[in-house]
Amino acid sequence: MTAPQDAPLKAPWSFALPESVHRVPASALPALIERLPKAELHLHIEGSLEPELIFALAQRNGVALPYASVEALRAAYAFTDLQSFLDIYYAGASVLLQEQDFFDMAWAYLLRAQADQVVRAELFFDPQTHTERGVPFEVVIRGLHRACRQAQASLGVSADLILCFLRHLSEEEALATLQQALPYRDLFIGVGLDSAERGHPPEKFARVFAQARALGLHVVAHAGEEGPPAYVWSALDVLQVERIDHGVRSVEDPALMDRLAAQGVPLTVCPLSNLKLCVVRDLADHPLPTLLAAGLKATINADDPAYFGGYLNDNWRATFAALPQLGPAQAYALARHSLEATFAPPEVQAAWVARLDAAFEEAAAASAPLRP
Ligand code: HPA
Ligand code: ZN
Repeated sequence: MTAPQDAPLKAPWSFALPESVHRVPASALPALIERLPKAELHLHIEGSLEPELIFALAQRNGVALPYASVEALRAAYAFTDLQSFLDIYYAGASVLLQEQDFFDMAWAYLLRAQADQVVRAELFFDPQTHTERGVPFEVVIRGLHRACRQAQASLGVSADLILCFLRHLSEEEALATLQQALPYRDLFIGVGLDSAERGHPPEKFARVFAQARALGLHVVAHAGEEGPPAYVWSALDVLQVERIDHGVRSVEDPALMDRLAAQGVPLTVCPLSNLKLCVVRDLADHPLPTLLAAGLKATINADDPAYFGGYLNDNWRATFAALPQLGPAQAYALARHSLEATFAPPEVQAAWVARLDAAFEEAAAASAPLRP
């Protein structure tokens, strides 16, 4: 049997592809993808709130919704850009009032993640969406954190929280949110930046990110989703982020591509989100193969699965189906990047990578022709 032809992956890769990768035929890939251990690094927990749970929580909390039914709400999920999504996403979050609501939302996601072989989830949450409505910060973080601890104990899924600042609000409001979060410093591992990107460049949040770094928090930011490559540069240079969320518009700037590759900055790419928010016209046009071929540490993530039509494995499945340039080598690289881009300790990452290697070895052995 001939080895499948994969597009060459350029240096700098921080790893050599295991030999088994070349013995996995393309026909075995769809089933293998489902089973690969993966990390989810770009998931807004409020974006995992399914319409059924929105209606159940609305009823439990006596919140009136401007939609007659689950079907009517789902039918409204036709987005033209990021803002058209954000309007409905913030409306959906209005049913979250009690600690148990935040727990139930996160627990539903974590069960779904376990089914997709997610071994590690670093979950974004938007406290300002809730504190603005009078929900105490403590209620939000205690519910989410309890779900994360229970996931580790009973699902074997490692999960932690990243607090995101809403970039359409002021830096003063972000600074106040960080102050509010300080008593709960041990319940989250980092800060991020999300919401409407255009007109709200990373440098608007220079001081709050400097404070977060000084506290020893990890730092990430959305950049280069709808915003220009200049926002990716300033997320790196001004905010000094460790990962870029989305970053797909980096392909417009060759010098930026070189910088991201040389520095090994992970990009948390979200293909179905990019499709649903019209960042790309078609998944077949998605820049993921270009990012990988240029040696960038791209990963696949779900972003807001309840709104964009898919959880993590749905994103993998749709992306590989639309892009025939992606083969076993790219699947290995994407999974390995995700595991090594986590904020988990190196020895824990290494144990996950060993499971990834074993999954490829098993698939290669199962595909080997039988000897007479
Ligand atoms: N971009 C910016 N803000 C967000 C997103 C996104 O994809 N999802 C939830 N908040
Ligand atoms: Zn996002």
